[in-house]
Amino acid sequence: MGRPNYDVKDLALAGEGRSRIAWAEQEMPVLRQIRARFAAEKPLAGIRVAACLHVTTETANLMRTLKDGGADPVLCASNPLSTQDDVAAALVAEYGIPTFAIKGEDKDTYYAHISAALDHRPNITMDDGADLVSTLHSSRSDLLAGIIGGTEETTTGVIRLRAMAADGALRFPIIAVNDALTKHLFDNRYGTGQSTIDGVIRATNILLAGKNVVVSGYGWCSRGIAMRAKGMGANVIVTEVDPLRALEAVMDGYRVMPIAQAAPLGDLFITSTGDIHAIDAAHFALMKDGAIVANSGHFNVEINIPALEALATEVREPRPFVKQYILPDGRKLAILADGRLINLSAAEGHPASVMDMSFANQALSAEHMAAQGKSLEPKVYSVPEAIDKEIARLKLAAMGVAIDQLTAEQQAYLHSWQAGT
Ligand SMILES: NC(=O)c1ccc[n+]([C@@H]2O[C@H](COP(=O)([O-])OP(=O)(O)OC[C@H]3O[C@@H](n4cnc5c(N)ncnc54)[C@H](O)[C@@H]3O)[C@@H](O)[C@H]2O)c1
Repeated sequence: MGRPNYDVKDLALAGEGRSRIAWAEQEMPVLRQIRARFAAEKPLAGIRVAACLHVTTETANLMRTLKDGGADPVLCASNPLSTQDDVAAALVAEYGIPTFAIKGEDKDTYYAHISAALDHRPNITMDDGADLVSTLHSSRSDLLAGIIGGTEETTTGVIRLRAMAADGALRFPIIAVNDALTKHLFDNRYGTGQSTIDGVIRATNILLAGKNVVVSGYGWCSRGIAMRAKGMGANVIVTEVDPLRALEAVMDGYRVMPIAQAAPLGDLFITSTGDIHAIDAAHFALMKDGAIVANSGHFNVEINIPALEALATEVREPRPFVKQYILPDGRKLAILADGRLINLSAAEGHPASVMDMSFANQALSAEHMAAQGKSLEPKVYSVPEAIDKEIARLKLAAMGVAIDQLTAEQQAYLHSWQAGT
C-alpha cells in the first residue's frame, strides 16, 4: 500500500468542516457562479493544480470550484498556524481533495507537506507567499518541465516572485492575483482590517476603546487595521517609511511618528509591513508594562521575537495564542500567535464575502493560465483587466446594487479633447 494521499489532524472532524464550508459558500456568490460555469464547461480538464493556501472554509470553496472545472487539485497549508483542521478533514473525506495540513505543524512538517503537494506533479501552481514556487525552483526543479504557470495570492509572494524574475531565476509565468483591484482594495483592506481586530480580540479579550494602538505600515492591510481600530474607539498611531503613505495617514487623521517614539506609548502594536523587524530589540526596551504585540503581515519576521526571547527571564502562556515575556525589570510584554498572521491564527482569516472576490480572481486566473500559459514568458503578469471588471460587476449584481451606464453623449464627451469651457 502506498502513502495515504493526505495528512490531516482527524478525519472525524469532516462533518463539522462540511457545514462550515457550506456556510461560507452562501457568502461567495461570485465564486458560486464561476463554479456553475466551470462545471458545465470544464476549462481545467486534465490540469493538475498544486495549491499552497491558508486552509480555510473559503479556500475549500475555491478547491471545489477547481475540481468542478475538471482540474485534479491538491492542497497544502501556506502557514503552519492558519489551518482549520475540520476543513482539511472535509476536503479529504467529503470532497476527495488530497490535503496536507495540520494546525500547529512544525517547520519540517510544513515543508514535508509542500513536498507532498509537489509530488502531485502540478501543471499549475497556486501560492500564497511563494513557498511552493520557491521550493519547486530550489529543490524540485525536475518538475519544472510539466508546469504551465502559476498564480500568487499575496503582496509578500508577489515581491518574492518579482525578485526571482529580476534575477532571471523564474522559470514559468505567474499571475499576481494580489495586484487585481478586486483583490487588494478589498481583501487586504476590509478583510485584513476586520479579521486582524477579530484575531486580537479573540486571543486577548481586551477592550480597544481608549487604548493606544500602534499600526506599523500604512499599506492596504494596515489602512484597514487602522480604520477598524479607530472605529472601535482606539487612539491610532501609524508608523511608516514611505513619505506618501505617511502623509496619507496624517491626512486621514492619525498621529504619525517613528516606531521608537511610538514604542513607549502603545498598548497594542500591530505590524503589517511585509518587512523584517518593523519592531526590533530597541523598541521592546521602550515599551510599557503590559504592552501587546501582534503581526498581520505574511511572515513571522516583522517582530524580532528572538531578540525578545533573549531579553526575557521567563516566558508564560496565560491564554492560547498569548506568550508573555517577563523582562529583568519586571515588565511583561505579550506576543500573540508567535508573531504569525494573527487574523488567520487566532481568528478565521478574512470573511467569506471578501474572499469571494480574491478567489474568483484565483479561479479565473487559473483558467486564463490553462488557456494561455504556454504562450507566456516566465514573468509576473497582472490579472487581465477584463477579469477584474467582470468580478466587480458580478459582485455588485450579487449585492443587488445597480449602477449607471455612460450615455452615448457622455461616451463621446469623455473621449473628446475639443470640448472645454
Ligand atoms: N493578514 C492577512 O490576511 C494578509 C492579507 C493580505 C496581505 N497580507 C500581507 O500583509 C503584508 C502587507 O501587505 P500590504 O498589501 O498592506 O502591502 P503594502 O505594500 O501595501 O504596504 C506595506 C507598507 O508597509 C510600509 N513599511 C515597510 N517597512 C516598514 C517599516 N519598517 N516600518 C513601517 N512601515 C513599513 C511600506 O512603506 C508600505 O506602505 C504583506 O506581507 C502581505 O503579504 C496579509
